[in-house]
Amino acid sequence: MRRVVDASPTARRTPSRADPTVPCSPPFYPHYISPKQTLTAPIPSTKQAPATTEQAGTEAKPKTERRKRVLSGVQPTGSIHLGNYFGAIKNWVKMQEEFDAFYCVVDLHAITAGGHDPKELVKSTRSSAAIYLAAGLDPARSNVLGLDPARSNVFVQSHVSAHSELCWLLNCATPIGWLEKMIQFKEKARKAGEDVSVGLLDYPVLMASDILLYNADIVPVGEDQRQHLELTRDIAGRVNNLYGGGKWKKMGPKGSRAPSGRFRGGEILRVPDAYIPEAGARVMSLTDGSAKMSKSNPAEGSRINVLDSPDEIAKKIKRCKTDAFEGLEFGNPERPEATNLLTMYQLCTGMTKEEVLGECGSMRWGDFKPALTDAVIEHLTPIQARYAEIVEEEGYLDGVLKKGADAANEVAEKTVADVRDAMGFMERIH
Ligand code: TYM
Repeated sequence: MRRVVDASPTARRTPSRADPTVPCSPPFYPHYISPKQTLTAPIPSTKQAPATTEQAGTEAKPKTERRKRVLSGVQPTGSIHLGNYFGAIKNWVKMQEEFDAFYCVVDLHAITAGGHDPKELVKSTRSSAAIYLAAGLDPARSNVLGLDPARSNVFVQSHVSAHSELCWLLNCATPIGWLEKMIQFKEKARKAGEDVSVGLLDYPVLMASDILLYNADIVPVGEDQRQHLELTRDIAGRVNNLYGGGKWKKMGPKGSRAPSGRFRGGEILRVPDAYIPEAGARVMSLTDGSAKMSKSNPAEGSRINVLDSPDEIAKKIKRCKTDAFEGLEFGNPERPEATNLLTMYQLCTGMTKEEVLGECGSMRWGDFKPALTDAVIEHLTPIQARYAEIVEEEGYLDGVLKKGADAANEVAEKTVADVRDAMGFMERIH
Protein backbone atom coordinates (compact mmCIF):
# COMPACT_ATOMS: atom_id res chain seq x y z
CA MET A 1 0.00 0.00 0.00
CA ARG A 2 1.16 3.47 -0.76
CA ARG A 3 2.45 5.49 2.18
CA VAL A 4 0.41 8.64 2.68
CA VAL A 5 2.57 11.69 3.11
CA ASP A 6 1.41 15.20 3.78
CA ALA A 7 4.16 17.50 2.66
CA SER A 8 2.03 20.63 2.64
CA PRO A 9 3.61 23.65 4.33
CA THR A 10 1.10 23.43 7.19
CA ALA A 11 1.93 19.76 7.82
CA ARG A 12 5.60 20.42 8.32
CA ARG A 13 7.53 20.03 11.51
CA THR A 14 8.27 22.77 13.98
CA PRO A 15 9.02 25.80 11.84
CA SER A 16 12.69 26.59 11.64
CA ARG A 17 14.31 29.93 10.99
CA ALA A 18 15.25 28.75 7.55
CA ASP A 19 11.63 28.01 6.75
CA PRO A 20 10.19 30.78 4.59
CA THR A 21 6.65 30.02 5.82
CA VAL A 22 7.58 31.51 9.17
CA PRO A 23 6.87 35.21 9.28
CA CYS A 24 10.28 36.78 9.57
CA SER A 25 12.44 39.51 8.21
CA PRO A 26 15.18 38.78 5.67
CA PRO A 27 18.09 38.41 8.13
CA PHE A 28 16.53 35.10 9.15
CA TYR A 29 17.12 33.74 5.68
CA PRO A 30 20.50 32.07 5.89
CA HIS A 31 21.11 31.72 2.17
CA TYR A 32 21.25 35.28 1.01
CA ILE A 33 24.09 36.35 -1.17
CA SER A 34 26.02 38.73 0.99
CA PRO A 35 25.05 42.35 0.31
CA LYS A 36 28.78 43.08 0.06
CA GLN A 37 29.21 40.96 -3.05
CA THR A 38 29.07 43.72 -5.64
CA LEU A 39 31.88 44.52 -8.02
CA THR A 40 31.04 48.17 -7.97
CA ALA A 41 31.04 50.18 -4.80
CA PRO A 42 27.62 51.43 -3.76
CA ILE A 43 27.17 55.11 -4.49
CA PRO A 44 27.96 57.21 -1.44
CA SER A 45 24.85 59.36 -1.58
CA THR A 46 22.27 56.59 -1.10
CA LYS A 47 22.25 56.58 2.74
CA GLN A 48 18.62 56.20 3.82
CA ALA A 49 17.24 57.13 0.42
CA PRO A 50 14.32 54.98 -0.59
CA ALA A 51 15.41 52.69 -3.36
CA THR A 52 12.21 52.13 -5.22
CA THR A 53 10.02 54.06 -7.52
CA GLU A 54 6.89 53.31 -5.56
CA GLN A 55 7.92 53.81 -2.00
CA ALA A 56 9.58 57.18 -2.27
CA GLY A 57 8.45 60.71 -2.85
CA THR A 58 5.68 61.17 -0.31
CA GLU A 59 6.88 64.57 0.81
CA ALA A 60 5.69 65.26 4.38
CA LYS A 61 3.69 62.06 4.79
CA PRO A 62 4.95 59.62 7.41
CA LYS A 63 6.98 56.79 5.89
CA THR A 64 4.97 53.63 5.51
CA GLU A 65 6.73 50.26 5.45
CA ARG A 66 6.67 48.77 2.00
CA ARG A 67 6.01 45.04 1.95
CA LYS A 68 9.08 43.14 0.81
CA ARG A 69 8.83 41.90 -2.72
CA VAL A 70 9.74 38.59 -4.30
CA LEU A 71 10.23 37.90 -8.01
CA SER A 72 11.18 34.76 -9.88
CA GLY A 73 10.59 32.87 -13.11
CA VAL A 74 11.06 29.63 -15.00
CA GLN A 75 11.66 29.27 -18.74
CA PRO A 76 8.88 27.59 -20.69
CA THR A 77 11.21 25.18 -22.44
CA GLY A 78 10.28 21.52 -22.12
CA SER A 79 8.53 20.23 -19.02
CA ILE A 80 8.93 21.64 -15.53
CA HIS A 81 10.83 19.01 -13.53
CA LEU A 82 11.50 18.28 -9.88
CA GLY A 83 14.63 20.48 -9.97
CA ASN A 84 12.57 23.52 -11.03
CA TYR A 85 9.88 22.61 -8.55
CA PHE A 86 12.01 22.04 -5.45
CA GLY A 87 14.73 24.53 -6.39
CA ALA A 88 12.32 27.36 -7.10
CA ILE A 89 8.54 26.99 -7.38
CA LYS A 90 7.87 25.33 -4.04
CA ASN A 91 9.64 28.21 -2.31
CA TRP A 92 7.64 30.75 -4.28
CA VAL A 93 4.47 29.27 -2.87
CA LYS A 94 5.74 29.68 0.67
CA MET A 95 7.03 33.17 0.09
CA GLN A 96 3.78 34.57 -1.23
CA GLU A 97 2.52 34.36 2.34
CA GLU A 98 4.83 37.10 3.39
CA PHE A 99 5.97 39.02 0.36
CA ASP A 100 4.40 40.90 -2.53
CA ALA A 101 4.91 38.27 -5.16
CA PHE A 102 5.63 38.55 -8.89
CA TYR A 103 6.16 35.25 -10.71
CA CYS A 104 6.60 35.20 -14.45
CA VAL A 105 6.87 32.65 -17.20
CA VAL A 106 10.07 33.89 -18.83
CA ASP A 107 9.20 33.24 -22.46
CA LEU A 108 11.69 35.80 -23.82
CA HIS A 109 14.44 33.75 -22.21
CA ALA A 110 13.12 30.59 -23.83
CA ILE A 111 14.15 31.70 -27.32
CA THR A 112 17.77 32.54 -26.48
CA ALA A 113 19.04 29.10 -27.47
CA GLY A 114 17.85 29.81 -31.04
CA GLY A 115 15.68 27.71 -33.34
CA HIS A 116 12.70 27.27 -31.01
CA ASP A 117 9.40 25.82 -32.18
CA PRO A 118 6.80 28.65 -32.05
CA LYS A 119 3.85 26.27 -31.56
CA GLU A 120 5.61 24.56 -28.70
CA LEU A 121 6.46 27.90 -27.08
CA VAL A 122 2.89 29.06 -26.79
CA LYS A 123 1.78 25.65 -25.47
CA SER A 124 4.60 25.48 -22.99
CA THR A 125 3.98 29.05 -21.79
CA ARG A 126 0.38 28.27 -20.88
CA SER A 127 1.29 24.94 -19.35
CA SER A 128 4.03 26.50 -17.20
CA ALA A 129 1.66 29.15 -15.91
CA ALA A 130 -0.90 26.44 -15.05
CA ILE A 131 1.78 24.48 -13.18
CA TYR A 132 2.72 27.61 -11.19
CA LEU A 133 -0.87 27.80 -9.99
CA ALA A 134 -1.32 24.09 -9.46
CA ALA A 135 1.91 23.76 -7.51
CA GLY A 136 0.51 25.77 -4.65
CA LEU A 137 -2.38 23.44 -3.90
CA ASP A 138 -2.56 22.91 -0.20
CA PRO A 139 -5.15 20.29 0.75
CA ALA A 140 -4.69 21.05 4.44
CA ARG A 141 -6.12 24.47 3.77
CA SER A 142 -9.26 23.26 2.04
CA ASN A 143 -8.17 23.59 -1.54
CA VAL A 144 -6.94 27.13 -1.31
CA LEU A 145 -4.82 27.88 -4.35
CA GLY A 146 -1.21 28.23 -3.40
CA LEU A 147 -0.19 30.80 -5.95
CA ASP A 148 -3.36 32.68 -5.22
CA PRO A 149 -3.63 35.22 -8.01
CA ALA A 150 -4.79 37.78 -5.47
CA ARG A 151 -1.50 37.51 -3.64
CA SER A 152 0.83 36.38 -6.39
CA ASN A 153 0.97 38.22 -9.64
CA VAL A 154 1.45 35.46 -12.17
CA PHE A 155 2.22 36.75 -15.64
CA VAL A 156 4.01 36.14 -18.90
CA GLN A 157 7.26 38.07 -19.31
CA SER A 158 6.59 39.13 -22.92
CA HIS A 159 3.28 40.70 -21.85
CA VAL A 160 5.26 43.40 -20.09
CA SER A 161 7.31 45.24 -22.71
CA ALA A 162 9.35 47.06 -20.06
CA HIS A 163 11.44 43.87 -19.67
CA SER A 164 12.85 44.32 -23.17
CA GLU A 165 13.24 48.05 -22.80
CA LEU A 166 15.10 47.89 -19.51
CA CYS A 167 17.24 45.12 -20.95
CA TRP A 168 18.42 47.50 -23.68
CA LEU A 169 19.19 50.27 -21.20
CA LEU A 170 21.11 47.89 -18.95
CA ASN A 171 22.94 46.39 -21.95
CA CYS A 172 24.54 49.75 -22.53
CA ALA A 173 25.77 49.91 -18.95
CA THR A 174 27.07 46.33 -18.76
CA PRO A 175 30.65 45.53 -19.75
CA ILE A 176 30.71 42.64 -22.21
CA GLY A 177 33.45 40.96 -20.16
CA TRP A 178 30.97 40.41 -17.31
CA LEU A 179 28.75 38.40 -19.66
CA GLU A 180 31.53 36.42 -21.27
CA LYS A 181 32.49 35.15 -17.81
CA MET A 182 29.08 33.59 -17.11
CA ILE A 183 29.44 29.83 -16.63
CA GLN A 184 26.08 28.99 -18.22
CA PHE A 185 26.94 31.10 -21.27
CA LYS A 186 30.31 29.42 -21.68
CA GLU A 187 28.80 25.94 -21.39
CA LYS A 188 25.87 26.61 -23.73
CA ALA A 189 28.00 28.56 -26.23
CA ARG A 190 30.44 25.66 -26.43
CA LYS A 191 27.55 23.36 -27.35
CA ALA A 192 25.95 25.84 -29.78
CA GLY A 193 29.20 26.45 -31.68
CA GLU A 194 28.83 28.96 -34.48
CA ASP A 195 25.07 29.18 -33.98
CA VAL A 196 25.37 30.87 -30.61
CA SER A 197 22.99 33.85 -30.55
CA VAL A 198 23.55 37.35 -29.21
CA GLY A 199 20.51 36.60 -27.06
CA LEU A 200 22.34 33.82 -25.27
CA LEU A 201 25.14 36.18 -24.27
CA ASP A 202 22.59 38.79 -23.25
CA TYR A 203 20.43 36.35 -21.30
CA PRO A 204 21.66 37.45 -17.85
CA VAL A 205 20.98 41.12 -18.61
CA LEU A 206 17.39 40.24 -19.47
CA MET A 207 17.21 38.31 -16.21
CA ALA A 208 18.58 41.33 -14.33
CA SER A 209 15.86 43.44 -15.98
CA ASP A 210 13.18 41.00 -14.80
CA ILE A 211 14.34 41.37 -11.25
CA LEU A 212 15.23 45.06 -11.13
CA LEU A 213 11.98 46.22 -12.78
CA TYR A 214 10.04 45.07 -9.73
CA ASN A 215 12.46 46.35 -7.09
CA ALA A 216 12.58 42.79 -5.84
CA ASP A 217 14.09 42.32 -2.40
CA ILE A 218 14.50 38.60 -2.76
CA VAL A 219 14.78 36.16 -5.64
CA PRO A 220 14.21 32.46 -4.90
CA VAL A 221 16.26 30.34 -7.31
CA GLY A 222 18.25 27.13 -7.48
CA GLU A 223 22.01 27.03 -7.02
CA ASP A 224 22.68 27.24 -10.78
CA GLN A 225 21.37 30.82 -10.84
CA ARG A 226 23.68 32.15 -8.14
CA GLN A 227 26.11 33.69 -10.61
CA HIS A 228 23.29 35.39 -12.51
CA LEU A 229 22.03 36.88 -9.27
CA GLU A 230 25.47 38.21 -8.45
CA LEU A 231 25.62 39.77 -11.89
CA THR A 232 22.20 41.36 -11.33
CA ARG A 233 23.52 42.96 -8.17
CA ASP A 234 26.58 44.20 -10.01
CA ILE A 235 24.52 45.69 -12.82
CA ALA A 236 22.19 47.45 -10.36
CA GLY A 237 25.19 48.82 -8.47
CA ARG A 238 26.80 50.05 -11.66
CA VAL A 239 23.65 51.81 -12.91
CA ASN A 240 23.14 53.42 -9.52
CA ASN A 241 26.76 54.48 -9.51
CA LEU A 242 26.74 55.87 -13.04
CA TYR A 243 23.38 57.62 -13.02
CA GLY A 244 21.93 57.69 -9.50
CA GLY A 245 22.47 59.87 -6.45
CA GLY A 246 23.57 63.46 -7.00
CA LYS A 247 23.74 63.06 -10.78
CA TRP A 248 20.11 62.09 -10.92
CA LYS A 249 19.15 64.93 -8.57
CA LYS A 250 20.72 67.42 -10.95
CA MET A 251 18.52 66.20 -13.82
CA GLY A 252 15.79 68.58 -12.63
CA PRO A 253 15.24 71.60 -10.38
CA LYS A 254 15.95 71.11 -6.64
CA GLY A 255 13.43 68.75 -5.03
CA SER A 256 11.93 67.75 -8.36
CA ARG A 257 10.30 64.44 -8.98
CA ALA A 258 11.06 61.65 -11.39
CA PRO A 259 8.31 60.31 -13.71
CA SER A 260 7.25 57.72 -11.13
CA GLY A 261 6.50 60.44 -8.60
CA ARG A 262 9.46 59.77 -6.33
CA PHE A 263 12.09 62.42 -5.69
CA ARG A 264 15.12 62.26 -7.94
CA GLY A 265 18.28 61.03 -6.25
CA GLY A 266 19.44 57.99 -4.32
CA GLU A 267 19.48 54.52 -5.80
CA ILE A 268 17.58 54.10 -9.02
CA LEU A 269 17.47 50.30 -8.77
CA ARG A 270 17.14 48.15 -5.68
CA VAL A 271 19.96 45.66 -5.18
CA PRO A 272 18.26 42.28 -4.59
CA ASP A 273 19.25 39.21 -2.58
CA ALA A 274 19.04 35.60 -3.68
CA TYR A 275 17.21 32.96 -1.72
CA ILE A 276 18.75 29.57 -2.38
CA PRO A 277 17.14 26.75 -0.38
CA GLU A 278 19.23 24.44 1.76
CA ALA A 279 17.63 21.26 0.37
CA GLY A 280 16.52 21.27 -3.27
CA ALA A 281 18.91 23.91 -4.56
CA ARG A 282 20.56 21.33 -6.78
CA VAL A 283 18.41 18.33 -7.64
CA MET A 284 20.57 15.93 -9.59
CA SER A 285 19.96 13.72 -12.60
CA LEU A 286 18.49 10.25 -12.05
CA THR A 287 21.06 8.76 -14.36
CA ASP A 288 24.10 10.57 -12.95
CA GLY A 289 24.12 11.88 -9.39
CA SER A 290 26.92 14.29 -10.19
CA ALA A 291 25.05 16.12 -13.00
CA LYS A 292 22.20 18.59 -12.49
CA MET A 293 18.68 17.47 -13.38
CA SER A 294 18.02 19.46 -16.52
CA LYS A 295 15.46 20.02 -19.26
CA SER A 296 18.18 19.98 -21.89
CA ASN A 297 19.39 16.45 -21.13
CA PRO A 298 18.22 14.36 -24.11
CA ALA A 299 17.68 11.36 -21.79
CA GLU A 300 14.08 11.61 -20.58
CA GLY A 301 14.91 9.09 -17.85
CA SER A 302 17.28 11.58 -16.23
CA ARG A 303 14.46 13.70 -14.82
CA ILE A 304 11.02 13.47 -13.24
CA ASN A 305 8.59 16.01 -14.63
CA VAL A 306 5.88 17.51 -12.46
CA LEU A 307 3.27 16.19 -14.91
CA ASP A 308 4.72 12.65 -15.28
CA SER A 309 2.18 9.87 -14.76
CA PRO A 310 2.63 7.45 -11.82
CA ASP A 311 3.77 4.78 -14.29
CA GLU A 312 6.42 7.03 -15.78
CA ILE A 313 7.65 8.02 -12.32
CA ALA A 314 7.84 4.37 -11.22
CA LYS A 315 9.74 3.41 -14.36
CA LYS A 316 12.23 6.24 -14.06
CA ILE A 317 12.98 5.53 -10.41
CA LYS A 318 13.24 1.80 -11.06
CA ARG A 319 15.91 2.45 -13.69
CA CYS A 320 17.74 5.25 -11.91
CA LYS A 321 21.42 4.90 -11.09
CA THR A 322 22.37 3.53 -7.66
CA ASP A 323 25.56 2.12 -6.13
CA ALA A 324 26.87 -1.03 -4.49
CA PHE A 325 27.33 0.33 -0.94
CA GLU A 326 25.40 -1.03 2.04
CA GLY A 327 22.67 1.15 3.53
CA LEU A 328 21.88 4.73 2.54
CA GLU A 329 23.54 7.96 3.60
CA PHE A 330 23.67 11.69 2.90
CA GLY A 331 26.84 13.54 2.00
CA ASN A 332 29.25 10.75 1.04
CA PRO A 333 31.10 12.24 -1.97
CA GLU A 334 31.48 8.74 -3.39
CA ARG A 335 27.70 8.32 -3.32
CA PRO A 336 26.10 11.30 -5.10
CA GLU A 337 23.08 9.17 -6.08
CA ALA A 338 22.35 8.28 -2.46
CA THR A 339 22.46 11.93 -1.38
CA ASN A 340 20.29 12.97 -4.31
CA LEU A 341 17.59 10.32 -3.91
CA LEU A 342 17.42 10.69 -0.13
CA THR A 343 17.09 14.45 -0.57
CA MET A 344 14.30 13.88 -3.06
CA TYR A 345 12.57 11.69 -0.49
CA GLN A 346 13.10 14.34 2.18
CA LEU A 347 11.59 17.05 -0.03
CA CYS A 348 8.60 14.96 -1.08
CA THR A 349 7.73 13.81 2.42
CA GLY A 350 8.53 17.05 4.25
CA MET A 351 10.62 15.07 6.74
CA THR A 352 13.89 16.28 8.24
CA LYS A 353 17.21 14.77 7.18
CA GLU A 354 17.41 12.99 10.54
CA GLU A 355 13.94 11.52 10.14
CA VAL A 356 14.81 10.31 6.65
CA LEU A 357 18.00 8.69 7.93
CA GLY A 358 16.09 7.08 10.80
CA GLU A 359 13.59 5.58 8.38
CA CYS A 360 15.79 4.77 5.40
CA GLY A 361 19.41 4.66 6.63
CA SER A 362 19.54 0.90 6.81
CA MET A 363 17.41 0.18 3.74
CA ARG A 364 18.63 -1.53 0.59
CA TRP A 365 18.03 0.14 -2.73
CA GLY A 366 15.40 -2.49 -3.50
CA ASP A 367 13.33 -1.32 -0.52
CA PHE A 368 14.05 2.36 -0.85
CA LYS A 369 13.11 2.75 -4.50
CA PRO A 370 9.44 1.78 -4.02
CA ALA A 371 9.23 4.09 -0.98
CA LEU A 372 10.67 6.95 -3.01
CA THR A 373 8.30 6.20 -5.88
CA ASP A 374 5.32 6.37 -3.53
CA ALA A 375 6.54 9.60 -1.96
CA VAL A 376 7.05 11.32 -5.33
CA ILE A 377 3.66 10.16 -6.62
CA GLU A 378 1.93 11.23 -3.41
CA HIS A 379 3.51 14.64 -3.66
CA LEU A 380 2.71 15.21 -7.32
CA THR A 381 -0.80 13.72 -7.49
CA PRO A 382 -2.66 16.71 -6.01
CA ILE A 383 -0.64 19.11 -8.15
CA GLN A 384 -1.55 17.17 -11.27
CA ALA A 385 -5.21 17.05 -10.29
CA ARG A 386 -5.33 20.80 -9.78
CA TYR A 387 -3.46 21.30 -13.04
CA ALA A 388 -6.14 19.35 -14.88
CA GLU A 389 -8.85 21.53 -13.32
CA ILE A 390 -7.03 24.74 -14.22
CA VAL A 391 -6.50 23.89 -17.87
CA GLU A 392 -10.08 22.73 -18.21
CA GLU A 393 -11.69 25.78 -16.70
CA GLU A 394 -12.28 28.03 -19.66
CA GLY A 395 -10.96 31.54 -19.30
CA TYR A 396 -9.56 31.03 -15.82
CA LEU A 397 -5.87 30.95 -16.73
CA ASP A 398 -6.24 33.86 -19.16
CA GLY A 399 -7.94 35.87 -16.44
CA VAL A 400 -5.12 35.22 -13.98
CA LEU A 401 -2.47 36.10 -16.55
CA LYS A 402 -4.25 39.29 -17.58
CA LYS A 403 -4.56 40.47 -14.00
CA GLY A 404 -0.94 39.54 -13.37
CA ALA A 405 0.30 41.40 -16.44
CA ASP A 406 -1.73 44.50 -15.54
CA ALA A 407 -0.22 44.61 -12.07
CA ALA A 408 3.26 43.88 -13.40
CA ASN A 409 2.99 46.58 -16.06
CA GLU A 410 1.98 49.15 -13.50
CA VAL A 411 5.11 48.58 -11.42
CA ALA A 412 7.49 47.96 -14.31
CA GLU A 413 6.50 51.06 -16.30
CA LYS A 414 7.38 53.27 -13.33
CA THR A 415 10.79 51.72 -12.87
CA VAL A 416 11.77 51.92 -16.51
CA ALA A 417 10.52 55.52 -16.73
CA ASP A 418 12.80 56.45 -13.85
CA VAL A 419 15.78 54.71 -15.41
CA ARG A 420 15.13 56.60 -18.67
CA ASP A 421 14.86 59.82 -16.71
CA ALA A 422 18.10 59.24 -14.80
CA MET A 423 19.91 58.30 -18.01
CA GLY A 424 18.87 61.54 -19.66
CA PHE A 425 16.12 60.50 -22.05
CA MET A 426 13.62 63.24 -22.82
CA GLU A 427 10.22 62.64 -21.24
CA ARG A 428 7.42 61.58 -23.58
CA ILE A 429 5.12 64.37 -24.67
CA HIS A 430 1.47 63.57 -24.03
P1 TYM B 1 15.40 27.77 -15.47
O1 TYM B 1 14.16 27.89 -16.28
O2 TYM B 1 16.56 27.05 -16.04
O3 TYM B 1 15.08 27.12 -14.08
C1 TYM B 1 14.05 27.68 -13.28
C2 TYM B 1 14.39 27.57 -11.82
O4 TYM B 1 14.65 26.22 -11.48
C3 TYM B 1 15.92 26.11 -10.85
N1 TYM B 1 16.51 24.82 -11.23
C4 TYM B 1 16.92 23.92 -10.36
N2 TYM B 1 16.92 23.90 -9.01
C5 TYM B 1 17.40 22.79 -8.41
N3 TYM B 1 17.87 21.71 -9.07
C6 TYM B 1 17.89 21.68 -10.41
N4 TYM B 1 18.34 20.62 -11.04
C7 TYM B 1 17.41 22.82 -11.12
N5 TYM B 1 17.27 23.12 -12.43
C8 TYM B 1 16.73 24.36 -12.47
C9 TYM B 1 16.72 27.29 -11.38
O5 TYM B 1 17.76 27.62 -10.50
C10 TYM B 1 15.67 28.35 -11.45
O6 TYM B 1 15.48 28.97 -10.20
N6 TYM B 1 17.49 32.22 -15.71
C11 TYM B 1 16.46 31.47 -15.11
C12 TYM B 1 15.07 31.99 -15.36
C13 TYM B 1 14.87 33.43 -15.02
C14 TYM B 1 14.75 33.99 -13.74
C15 TYM B 1 14.53 35.37 -13.94
C16 TYM B 1 14.84 33.45 -12.46
C17 TYM B 1 14.71 34.45 -15.92
N7 TYM B 1 14.50 35.62 -15.25
C18 TYM B 1 14.37 36.23 -12.85
C19 TYM B 1 14.68 34.32 -11.39
C20 TYM B 1 14.47 35.69 -11.58
C21 TYM B 1 16.53 30.06 -15.63
O7 TYM B 1 17.10 29.78 -16.63
O8 TYM B 1 15.84 29.21 -14.95
